[in-house]
Amino acid sequence: MITNNPFSTLAEIVPTIAMQGFVIAMAALTLVGVLVDIIHKKNVKYFFENAKKAKKNAQVELTTGKRTAVILKTVAHDIATTSELGWGKRRLAHVLGMYGTIIFWICSAILIFSYSSVGIETPSTLTALWHIGAILTCLGGYWFWFFLRVDVSAEAHPWYRIIKADLFVLALLACATFGLAWSYTQYSGMTGLSYLFLILFIVSNLVLFGGVYWSKFAHMFYKPGAAIQKNLAEADGSRDNLPPPADAPEQFGLGIKREQPKHY
Ligand code: HEM
Repeated sequence: MITNNPFSTLAEIVPTIAMQGFVIAMAALTLVGVLVDIIHKKNVKYFFENAKKAKKNAQVELTTGKRTAVILKTVAHDIATTSELGWGKRRLAHVLGMYGTIIFWICSAILIFSYSSVGIETPSTLTALWHIGAILTCLGGYWFWFFLRVDVSAEAHPWYRIIKADLFVLALLACATFGLAWSYTQYSGMTGLSYLFLILFIVSNLVLFGGVYWSKFAHMFYKPGAAIQKNLAEADGSRDNLPPPADAPEQFGLGIKREQPKHY
């Protein structure tokens, strides 16, 4: 199954151009969703106004070299390893899901744009990566969904309680799960089931990319921007208009050790 290119078999019934059109439509939906979200929340406007205000409090003028170094360090550390999640399960689950999704999306685009004609020979590394990307997304996503979600792990709600905020993670998981199920059933010759999973795969993609405005999808663009701004503000001493840390030892008393802080 890992060497199966489901898009090449799909080309027997669906023209390649339709698959490529679908990918372009999903990218367009993402762009529109993020833009409408930006207009509605005015978050980017606030972000730039705040950055401009903070710049006035800068203690040092950053050179282009220093700014580039701060940005590169933020990309390599804060963004690439989602360091804001600290050390632990939450970060590991996120990294699994994040890289899984990136690999899955990139491989899907390459397969659809370069290897989606009937009977085309596809590099097995590419098909393997497509499946591995989906599997990693499932590992990170289901781990998060069943065990790490704040309202489940800290507020004791059951894992099956669904709210609007779950739209992103659930749609993402549906895409990866139905994609894998489609590939498996197609490879195993279960034609009827493979059509069912294909339809579910298409619908979950429509929900994921069509739901950008209502879901947490856009955090993957906002979070990196915020991390870069935060580190630049620290480097130039403006600290986002926040006061400097207190010049006192961090002593919170023994009470803080009584229980894991998870009632947020
Ligand atoms: C392809 C890129 C990414 C994917 C697929 C992704 C996926 C996810 C998912 C599924 C969640 C759980 C959402 C929920 O609360 O229901 C999440 C949460 C989160 N993401 Fe991402 N993410 C991506 C990029 C990023 C980046 C670049 C950052 C930071 C630089 C980031 C930071 C976070 C944080 C802080 C949370 C909250 C985690 C928690 O509550 O445990 N994400 N992400």
